[in-house]
Amino acid sequence: MLYPQRNKYRDLIDLSGFWDFRFDFKDEGLDNGWMNGFEKAEPIAVPASWNDQFAENRDFLGPAWYQIEFSIPDNWKQNDVRLRFGSVNYLTDVFLNGEKIGSHEGGHLPFEFDITTRLIEGNNHLTVRVDGNLENYHLPPGKMRMNFPPTNFDFYPFCGIHRPVLLYTVPKNGIEDITVKTEISGTIGKVIVRIDLMNESTNQAFLRLSGNGNDVSCELAIDGSSIETILDVPDAQFWSPENPSLYDLCVDILQEGVKFDSYSLKIGIRTFEVRGDKIYLNGKPYYLKGFGRHEDFPVVGRGYLPALIIKDYSLMKWIGANSFRTSHYPYSEQMMDLADRLGFLVIDETPAVGLTFKNEVIEHHLELCKQYLRDLINRDKNHPSVIMWSLANEPIRSIKSKAFFKELYDLAKSIDHTRLITVVNMKGIIEGAFEFCEILCVNRYPGWYEHQGQIDEGIKNLSQNLDDVYEKYKKPVILSEFGADTIPGCHAPPPEMFSEEYQVEFIKKFIETVRAKDYIVGEHVWNLCDFKTSQGIMRVGGMNLKGVFTRDRRPKMAAHFLKETWHDSKK
Ligand code: GCU
Repeated sequence: MLYPQRNKYRDLIDLSGFWDFRFDFKDEGLDNGWMNGFEKAEPIAVPASWNDQFAENRDFLGPAWYQIEFSIPDNWKQNDVRLRFGSVNYLTDVFLNGEKIGSHEGGHLPFEFDITTRLIEGNNHLTVRVDGNLENYHLPPGKMRMNFPPTNFDFYPFCGIHRPVLLYTVPKNGIEDITVKTEISGTIGKVIVRIDLMNESTNQAFLRLSGNGNDVSCELAIDGSSIETILDVPDAQFWSPENPSLYDLCVDILQEGVKFDSYSLKIGIRTFEVRGDKIYLNGKPYYLKGFGRHEDFPVVGRGYLPALIIKDYSLMKWIGANSFRTSHYPYSEQMMDLADRLGFLVIDETPAVGLTFKNEVIEHHLELCKQYLRDLINRDKNHPSVIMWSLANEPIRSIKSKAFFKELYDLAKSIDHTRLITVVNMKGIIEGAFEFCEILCVNRYPGWYEHQGQIDEGIKNLSQNLDDVYEKYKKPVILSEFGADTIPGCHAPPPEMFSEEYQVEFIKKFIETVRAKDYIVGEHVWNLCDFKTSQGIMRVGGMNLKGVFTRDRRPKMAAHFLKETWHDSKK
């Protein structure tokens, strides 16, 4: 799925800004025809969650309605026109000029509609109904714990239009998709490019790859709807966090010698693989240092906020991180573009958190997992920063999980055979999916959730558990979560739980433990920043305080400790 682009042949309008908004407290909007327009509207910022914008109704998870008017330029008429939502949580119904044009379930991934034949002269009226309420058959599931709002996961169920809504044009019979894979052969970079057109046709394609002193091009005759070729790049600059070299790939499509479509994207030449119990980037052993994170900030909630993306990358650079996981859902396209540009390896995770495998929900959950996985891979497959797909975070232990994840593993490999696949496991040793996942991600909290206040006891448990996991599966292991809730400014020498000293001691001893184990290939602290979650007896003020930075991005003692550790370490 290509991100909309403006060039000589394509155009786009970003509908970000202030829309009309109204809560539908009685869920009467559908029956009362709000899709044709509704009164008593108030302005709302799009993209952003509604929860903190209208704090008096923070915990009302919907339904709610949005509306906006737009008109399109005359010169759009000869092209196809599409309407694209970057992310809406959680259920979305879309109406144009009073007519329903479609629905979508699930947040954090884009969806779009062809509205070419639905447009009218002058102003078009777009209304969107959003419902953020989560039942146990939704994914992530709601209504399964004592927390409030009730969720089966540990982050606040923010609702609304969370990423940009774009109107955009594509030339008829133009480029539908581009897929790039890369290989390395000595000093030569091999860029495998597949072009999918919207329809069968006889065209010519002109490809040009430029950057880092290279300029490689080729012409292709296309007779059908797709074509694949390999561009050899001599003396290539291979992409890595230490040297995030990118190239510009431009694809032009011509009909009888006349150019009618063009699309350009940034690509990085790199390989990432497992050999034995190690991971290799561009043929060299690699070690991941970084975080589990959230898209979370005051006022905007889960909404796209460019300055926050820049801030978080500057914090991760400052602290010496080289990687992160998109816990527990795909992050914005802009976050992924900057991971390529700034040099971060990404474990790209679907929104499958809180899986229970209960009979009454397992079928719908499997269908949603497949939808999420297809959409995630199609959206993020061309990013050199993405090194693996995470099929889920912390599924409940179940005898059904192995078959469930094998279907997803096979689906992922059928779409993208180049990337590693993992499932992020909690506690225990047995994780059915670990039998076929190439790399094992484990979340461990001894010294916090068990052995409370006794870090050394916890460390003994951790060390033995990790050895047992490795002995069973003999695969590389990433410690994908470890951390301690910490109240900034709370000090207690000797360390006590919730003090900054305890967080430093906890992280320090976990790192010392895993660094002594050759099969550990990464350490991801939970979490980069404090984040909002549902209210509960274990979440003071509805906050998860395991961040090494506060929610407004101020460092705790642990941030300074990690900066010293990660910048100085050999790994
Ligand atoms: C789990 C889970 C996180 C959660 C964390 C915690 O491992 O993956 O989503 O926030 O533990 O309890 O802090």
